Amino acid sequence: MASVVCSFALLSVLTLASTSAAAIPEGPAESLRVDVDRVLATYWRGREGYSISAKEQRRLDRGARGSKPSTYGELTAEGVRLLAERWGLDDTEGAPGIFADLGCGVGKMVVQVYLECPGVGRALGVELSATRCRRAREAWEALLLSDEAFELRQRLLKSSGCEEEASPQDEVEFIQGDLLEADISDVTHIYLSSLCFDEATLFASAQKVQQEGRQLRGVASLQPLPLLRKVGELLLPMSWASRGLGTMAYLYET
Ligand SMILES: C[S@@+](CC[C@H](N)C(=O)[O-])C[C@H]1O[C@@H](n2cnc3c(N)ncnc32)[C@H](O)[C@@H]1O
Repeated sequence: MASVVCSFALLSVLTLASTSAAAIPEGPAESLRVDVDRVLATYWRGREGYSISAKEQRRLDRGARGSKPSTYGELTAEGVRLLAERWGLDDTEGAPGIFADLGCGVGKMVVQVYLECPGVGRALGVELSATRCRRAREAWEALLLSDEAFELRQRLLKSSGCEEEASPQDEVEFIQGDLLEADISDVTHIYLSSLCFDEATLFASAQKVQQEGRQLRGVASLQPLPLLRKVGELLLPMSWASRGLGTMAYLYET
């Protein structure tokens, strides 16, 4: 058994190492990523998702239908890049996509996707915890006020040959509420950090995606989802995984 675990761990390291190497861009794209990493570190300092009051934790877990919202962790910035690349959001072919992180925590993935992916025209996050949603909005507002959101998005558009003027204040949104009640009718890509969902919530999420996601091109979930057509798997680095290892994301199309 120990050797099975070891080989799996080794395989995971190899998979992540080879995919990350392929994903490293050069020139303007790399310098944009360095600046996005910097703003994610700067504007979210003191606005992390881990600490919410014990009272809110109890209220969230009591009210949730089969998820445990008090549990927190994040997809790393490198993980966001691997997934975006797999979905083709790093190029501008076709109509611009709308990305949604359902259970977005403090919203770093939403903002990163918007600032780095020329194939995304709008990005939104839905979050049950009022505290986390407020922190997401505060960090984003600060980034807007500093003009860094505009400058970074403008650089992205320019480097991908798009002549449009960036309009970040209209194109990123954080909604406080239950992901099962979110409007996903025009969303093209969904990320579900579903590790803490029970079977009933996984089923309800998949059913919602199938029935309401009319424009969907891609769904990624950290637990397998029923009903949808699985098209692949992708090992992603997470805040809770040791360096070089990750958690499997299951990829679907409707
Ligand atoms: C593990 S964190 C992931 C944060 C972020 N998506 C990321 O991957 O970096 C999961 C988040 O989902 C939220 N959540 C759990 N159940 C939810 C629900 N039914 N509706 C909205 N948010 C939910 C939790 O409060 C938590 O902030």
